Amino acid sequence: MSILVTGGAGYIGSHTVVELQNSGYDVVVVDNLSNSNKISLERVSAITGKPVTFYEADILDRDALDAMFEKEQITACIHFAGLKAVGESVAKPWEYYQNNIAGTLVLVDVMRKHNCKNLIFSSSATVYGDPAMIPITEECPKGTCTNPYGWTKSMLEQILSDIQKADPEWNVILLRYFNPIGAHKSGTIGENPNGIPNNLMPYITQVAVGKRPELGVFGNDYDTPDGTGVRDYIHVVDLADGHVKALKKLEENPGLKVYNLGTGTGCSVLDMVKNFEAATGVKVPYVIKERRPGDIATCYADASKAKAELGWEAKYGIREMCEDAWRWQSQNPNGY
Ligand code: NAD
Ligand code: WQD
Repeated sequence: MSILVTGGAGYIGSHTVVELQNSGYDVVVVDNLSNSNKISLERVSAITGKPVTFYEADILDRDALDAMFEKEQITACIHFAGLKAVGESVAKPWEYYQNNIAGTLVLVDVMRKHNCKNLIFSSSATVYGDPAMIPITEECPKGTCTNPYGWTKSMLEQILSDIQKADPEWNVILLRYFNPIGAHKSGTIGENPNGIPNNLMPYITQVAVGKRPELGVFGNDYDTPDGTGVRDYIHVVDLADGHVKALKKLEENPGLKVYNLGTGTGCSVLDMVKNFEAATGVKVPYVIKERRPGDIATCYADASKAKAELGWEAKYGIREMCEDAWRWQSQNPNGY
């Protein structure tokens, strides 16, 4: 009996494999390594002391998935595999819709063929668009996404909800992540972006390690306490633990469920710079730049539903997120 983790060599996937193995689950990973390196899985094994069964395959490859399901006793799938770069998705919409949507349709079809109808899906707070309420509860209506990446998440939520509705044997949990950052305490696995980082924390750590001269702060005239964007940053290990809790929930045959995974606390860009400097003792020079198109002022979760129904809440604060991100970056300045 194993849990399939698609995209398990990636950032959130690798941390989730650690928490799953530490909780006693057998794990099978499928990943095409398009945005990851299988060294991450060797590091996972070194942390947990357990081997990871790994299939290097694309989720669009029906035959490869079919052969894997034939061989392994898979009871549930945590589905991380997908492309996630917001800017790239604007330039390459076909690739994003094909990979994320068509890939998920193939995966789900192979799952049902093998009578495995338990799925946890990586969704995102991006589905709320410019949110109609702050803090954001799961009741907040989904909004207009500003890029194809966001639409893939929004559309996949709809697709998976419709599939569950048509066949109630399916149990589908949609997890809407806020902003995952940080790394495992060991400093051996972490976020490893290709090229210039799009996201705030990897940019900060690359400035801190001397790979980039300064951080550009995208706008200081938002309607927020210091004018910079406010987000709900969540430690990736807390996020990983949320998946273990969601997996336990699947055992209750919950049907369709949606949960926010965030801390419930907002942090501005300048707060993050200050917290990072205080946690690490390393200075992060920055300059104020124009707003980044598509950004919103404020986004943070009401995470009380996950606490009430999954028994999950975030344990780590911003300081640990900064310390752990820095340990990973400083020990692995060039990634894997
Ligand atoms: P990641 O890029 O590190 O991990 C995704 C993994 O999926 C990679 O290892 C990649 O090689 C693999 N992959 C992509 N397409 C594939 C395919 N067709 N077949 C097989 N493997 C494939 O990204 P992450 O940050 O770990 O994100 C994991 C999931 O969580 C993604 O679905 C992402 O959209 C979602 N998510 C991420 C964030 C975030 O800020 N990191 C926030 C919300 C949601
Ligand atoms: C955070 C804040 C920026 C970089 C994105 C996706 C979202 C989700 C998580 C997957 C904002 C500011 C950033 C920089 C900056 N991913 N910033 N300088 O935009 O909240 O969310 O990742 O689902 O879909 O959109 O995260 O880390 O890019 O930005 O000032 O160099 O940092 O303007 O206020 P975001 P982020």
